[in-house]
Amino acid sequence: MLFDLQPKRRREDLYDREEELKEFSEAIELGETLILLLGIRRLGKSSLLNVALSESGKPFSKIDVRSLYFTHGSIPQELLARKLIEGLLKSLKGRDKVRMELVNVLSRVKGVKVSGIQVEFDEKPDLAGLLERLDAWAEKTGRRVIIAFDEAQYLRLSGIRYDGLIAYAVDNLPNLTFVLTGSEVGMLHDFIGLDNPKKPLFGRYAREITLKRFSREQSGDFLRRGFEELGVKVQEEEIERVIDNLDGIVGWLTLYGYLRGVRKLSEKEAIEELFERAKALVLDEVSALTRYSARYWYILKAVSLGNNSWSSIKEYVEFKAGKINDAKLSALLKNLVKYGYLKKSRDGYSIPDPVIKEVLKRVNLPLGKFLTLP
Ligand SMILES: Nc1ncnc2c1ncn2[C@@H]1O[C@H](COP(=O)(O)OP(=O)(O)OP(=O)(O)O)[C@@H](O)[C@H]1O
Ligand SMILES: [Mg+2]
Repeated sequence: MLFDLQPKRRREDLYDREEELKEFSEAIELGETLILLLGIRRLGKSSLLNVALSESGKPFSKIDVRSLYFTHGSIPQELLARKLIEGLLKSLKGRDKVRMELVNVLSRVKGVKVSGIQVEFDEKPDLAGLLERLDAWAEKTGRRVIIAFDEAQYLRLSGIRYDGLIAYAVDNLPNLTFVLTGSEVGMLHDFIGLDNPKKPLFGRYAREITLKRFSREQSGDFLRRGFEELGVKVQEEEIERVIDNLDGIVGWLTLYGYLRGVRKLSEKEAIEELFERAKALVLDEVSALTRYSARYWYILKAVSLGNNSWSSIKEYVEFKAGKINDAKLSALLKNLVKYGYLKKSRDGYSIPDPVIKEVLKRVNLPLGKFLTLP
């Protein structure tokens, strides 16, 4: 179902993305070892990744780094190794022979014990050793193993040099392909540092697949098909209004379709409910930022209200939160661009997601939500 809210897993539930899937499989077939899947939030990176991995027919492991980070507060090697192995075994469901082969290989890695779907460690697992074994197995059997880190930029918060490990693998283990996705595109670029001579992956080649929002035409087609699938009739004018409000961001279009088509709300109710949910999401996401500085909030608020130049943002922020020096403001703005909350262009700063912009415009902060104003 097109309007299912979970990240899609099956090709038939994924609207379009033909080009991106083709590019992904081409990179795999060419034996490329590093693929980046980029795009702001809710454009369908996880969905595309799920479908691309399952269509690849290769053994793969997909690790949701963002949720690991938020559940555990850090990402120790044991956890990553466990998730990696469990994912691989899961991807071989129904392929018992290959699965047994892999269990044998993994059991020979120092410190690792695999029985059934259970993974145990006698000692701290050696991740590099594990990857080497996987590569050797892939080489011997003519396979390619895909390791995907969804929202990989969170690996950088783990305190462990995973960028070095990935660089080592990309350079030395040609039968493994790493896929990194990121909605905080600037943060992901910082983490892997392809252009940064000080970083281990400097100068490496990566296949970059950047997800775009749907065009007006695609958005309309997506909505019409989704409603048709549910047997719900919707006027053309409504479709046009929805596209005006949600602007080709598939996550919002899907949520609207779900509220209207599955929950059977009226157009007005569906839009209201969508903004309510968006508000909860935005406050949640933004509060992670504002723990560092409440000024992030005022900057976003300033831009949502139409202040797009550096000086008008500064004026607003100072009016709300007192003096801020130029270097500090520039640093905060730069971070917001890296996180994908703001876009910087010739016309100044803007908020790339119209729903988030509207939410920020409407919402006033609950008092006491933020503690610091550094
Ligand atoms: N091509 C598509 N066809 C149909 N539905 C899609 C498509 N891409 C994404 N969706 C839907 O849009 C929503 C967001 O998708 P997904 O979680 O894959 O995006 P994301 O970019 O990974 O988002 P996030 O930044 O929150 O991780 C989900 O409800 C998903 O089912
Ligand atoms: Mg995702």
